[in-house]
Amino acid sequence: MCGIVGYIGKRQATGFLLDGLSKLEYRGYDSAGIAILEKDGPRVEKCMGRLDALRKKIEGRVPTGTVGIGHTRWATHGRPSDHNAHPHTDPTGKFVVVHNGIVENYLSLKEDMLAHGEQFSSETDTEVLAHLFANYYKGNMEDAVHRVLKTIRGSYSLAFMCAAEPDKIICTKKDNPLVVGLGKDENYIASDIPAIISSTRDTYIMNDGEIAIVTADGVKLTDLKGNPITKEIFKVNWNAEAAEKGGFEHFMLKEIYEQPKSIRDTMRGRVNGKTGKLNFTELNWNKDFLKDIHKIFIVACGTAYHAGIVGKCYIEQLAGIPVEVDIASEFRYRNPIVDKHTLTIVISQSGETSDTLAALREAKRLGSHTLGVTNVVGSAVGREADQVVYTYAGPEIAVASTKAYTTQLLVMLMLAIYMGNLKENLDSALSEDLVKGIVEIPELIHRQVESVDQIKVFARKYGSAEDAFFLGRGLDYAVALEGALKLKEISYIHAEAYAAGELKHGTLALIVQRVPVIVIATQEDIYDKTLSNIQEVKARDASVIAIGYEGDEKLAKYADHVIYIPRTGKYLAPLLSVLPLQLLAYYAALTRGCDVDKPRNLAKSVTVE
Ligand code: G6P
Repeated sequence: MCGIVGYIGKRQATGFLLDGLSKLEYRGYDSAGIAILEKDGPRVEKCMGRLDALRKKIEGRVPTGTVGIGHTRWATHGRPSDHNAHPHTDPTGKFVVVHNGIVENYLSLKEDMLAHGEQFSSETDTEVLAHLFANYYKGNMEDAVHRVLKTIRGSYSLAFMCAAEPDKIICTKKDNPLVVGLGKDENYIASDIPAIISSTRDTYIMNDGEIAIVTADGVKLTDLKGNPITKEIFKVNWNAEAAEKGGFEHFMLKEIYEQPKSIRDTMRGRVNGKTGKLNFTELNWNKDFLKDIHKIFIVACGTAYHAGIVGKCYIEQLAGIPVEVDIASEFRYRNPIVDKHTLTIVISQSGETSDTLAALREAKRLGSHTLGVTNVVGSAVGREADQVVYTYAGPEIAVASTKAYTTQLLVMLMLAIYMGNLKENLDSALSEDLVKGIVEIPELIHRQVESVDQIKVFARKYGSAEDAFFLGRGLDYAVALEGALKLKEISYIHAEAYAAGELKHGTLALIVQRVPVIVIATQEDIYDKTLSNIQEVKARDASVIAIGYEGDEKLAKYADHVIYIPRTGKYLAPLLSVLPLQLLAYYAALTRGCDVDKPRNLAKSVTVE
């Protein structure tokens, strides 16, 4: 995690860096810092806490200079503190580094340095890099950076700056994201595009092993040996507004409301509502290819993992291919039985999650065909998977994922239909119905998110609860998992999702008077069973909020409250039933005074194991 940013040009760097860091805070926000090259060398200002704490710290004494680097931190090595905040320098303060990632061999390097009498002022792995940089500097910054990179092991995106060569910033990456932005008489670096989008849309998306020597006049790109390389400029196709709150109180709420658009953008060019036909031009699969695939693995983390669980139901039921869903951090170490007859689908909003990437690499190593489903063009998943299907959710800033999740569900559904058709496993009438149903979804989402008043009431009523349970069967259970995650990550209410039929095998012991139980009941084939489960928890005096289809009067007789969603088909229901859960989590977090967009201890992009 962590966010890095850099500026070199004619403007004052501090303003640019602080603004850039504010767009990267989603990556980590336990401390922040900047280093500006002033006349007599780098001036570092950093402190524990949010970016605002740093702004306050430098009020009235803002560093002046036109070259600088900055950092927002999510602690890995060393607790959040002023000392551990980045940037880090060597003991002379002349060599400066910001880092996102982990230096795996830092301890042995540090021990060597300590043995040579070098003093450290932090507990971080990064400080070792600043020492190395200084020790290796013999009058040529590029050479020093090459030597640093040869010495360290681990994952990183890095930016280096030094007093002796004040006309440049050098940056590079391995396993963590980095973009270089190209301006006029100024250039920029950042962990992610939102940090630089207000200045440029022209970027280099850096690959592992590439180094950028960034000056005010231009950017020189080399490999790790210093050989020049050329790279295509990637033009970002969205603007600064897309990464702003646009009048909403929080990014999360804005992103919930953006779902009709993100769903529309993700289906565009892939489905045809008139003919009921669907295609993925980016996938050149045919019947023979799928015949050869005996099993599919879906691998992901967090919300993307939950989208994978829904994806399993879709693919198994519509395409008839067995699917295993795995948490990426488990898959990578459990020697999965993967071979050339398997297809591994990794799902990742950011395309940079460390465990997901490692799982992707492991699947490739084992000979699996790989497909990435990601939201970020040019991300590691996008580059490394054999094939990629993009979700077009637009930038997602809130740590709690919402619009990325629903676009992932849509992609999984479209993939299942595509595979089902190719395999001739799917009834053509059902296929057409599903495609036509997909086209209606944005309007239904729009209707659903507009009716929030009832949810605000529930959030107030149950916002003080300590525990909550989410129940469902089949696809409803898969959505329940995401509902529970949303609630716990932003409101800190302990929440658990259970397959409704499993509850009585232990968890029922926790159901006591007035504990809120949210039950999703959209799956008609198992509807009556779900009703029985509602009765089981009602008999223990729980307060049941049910989510069901408009017109379902029966549900109202069983549950204390019902949130109605527009009636749709079995497979499309998850795209609608998750919306009240997202809103419930949001308003519960507001009721409890939580920082919705930046929940405690979390970060959006988890680029460490
Ligand atoms: C973090 C985020 C989650 C996200 C997960 C996977 O934990 O807080 O919201 O679902 O990472 O991220 P990815 O970018 O791979 O989808």
